[in-house]
Amino acid sequence: MNGPAVLNHKPKVLVTRRWPAAVEHELSERFDVVFNTQDRPLTPADFRDALGKFDAILPTVTDGMGPEALGVAKAQTRLLANYGVGFSHIDPKAARDLDLTVTNTPDVLSECTADLAMTLMLMVARRAGEGERELRAGAWTGWRPTHLVGSKVSGKTLGIIGFGRIGQAMAKRAHHGFGMKILVQNRSPVRQEVLDAYGATQVPTVEDLLPECDFVSLHCPGGPANRHLINSSRLNLMKPDAFLINTARGEVIDEHALGQALMFDCIGGAALDVFDGEPRIAPVLLHCDNLVMLPHLGSATRETREAMGRRVLDNITDFFEGREPRDKVL
Ligand code: DGY
Repeated sequence: MNGPAVLNHKPKVLVTRRWPAAVEHELSERFDVVFNTQDRPLTPADFRDALGKFDAILPTVTDGMGPEALGVAKAQTRLLANYGVGFSHIDPKAARDLDLTVTNTPDVLSECTADLAMTLMLMVARRAGEGERELRAGAWTGWRPTHLVGSKVSGKTLGIIGFGRIGQAMAKRAHHGFGMKILVQNRSPVRQEVLDAYGATQVPTVEDLLPECDFVSLHCPGGPANRHLINSSRLNLMKPDAFLINTARGEVIDEHALGQALMFDCIGGAALDVFDGEPRIAPVLLHCDNLVMLPHLGSATRETREAMGRRVLDNITDFFEGREPRDKVL
C-alpha cells in the first residue's frame, strides 16, 4: 500500500531539473538533495537507477515516467512529487505497481496559465505573431487600412473544454474582462453557481460546443483518454473563422489534422503552448502562418515557478512526516 512514510534518516531526494534558486535553497536545507546541475532531461536508465537510491524523485513534464523508466522490481523511492499540475507523463499503473505515491502542484499556476491562454487567444486573433515576424524581417511598409486585419475578441463566444481551475480562470478573464459568452464542456456536471460566476453554459458534448464558438480553448488533462480529442472530424465542426487555443497538453490535438485544417483554411487559426512529443515540433506546423506557437510557457513566471516549488516542498514534508500530502493524485 502506498502512503506517508516516516524514515529514520533525512529523506534522500532527486530533483530532475533546475528549479528557481530560492526553492532549491529551501529544499537543500530540509532534505538530502541531489540536483541535476546540468539541467538535462534524465533517461529511463537514470530513473531506474534513481529508484534504487532516492526516497523521493521530483520530476517534471519532461520526464517520461512510463513502464521503461519505472521498470524495476523493487524501489527505495516512495514518492514522485511532480513539479507541475499535469501528470500524464507518469504512468499510473507503473507507479501503482511500485506502490509509489504521486503528488502534483495545482492552484498556484492557474492564474498564470490562464493569462497565457488569453495571451495566445489575443495574439492569434490580432495576428500579433505575423506582425512581429514581418517587422523583424524588415518587411513592414507602414500603416494601411487593410494591413494584417484580424478578428475582434470582445463580445465573442469562447468554448472551454475542461472546466477545472485553469478553465475557470480563463472564463473569468474572458467573461469579466472581454464580455465573452462562455460555453463549457466538462466530463462531469459543473455546479450551477460555478457556471453562473462566469455567465457560462455547460453543453453535453464536444460536438455540441464546437459549432457554436468563435474561440475554443483546451483545459482538459492529457494522457491516453484525451489523445487526439481534437481530430479532423471535430476540426471540421468548428466555424471556418474560429480559433483553437491549447495550453493543456500537446497530445490532445491531432497535429497532422490541425496542420491540414490551417493550411486549407478550414479554421481561422490556432495558438499552441504545448506540442505532442515536445520539444519536437511537427514540421507541418512550421509552415502555417495563421498559427502562434510558444515553448510551453503557461506557468513560466517567477512567482508561479517559486510557488510550484513550495507546493512540492509542502507535499514532501507532509509525506515524510507521516501525513497524507494535500496534492496526492495517485
Ligand atoms: C503543468 O504544470 O502541467 C505544466 O504544463 C508544466 O508541467
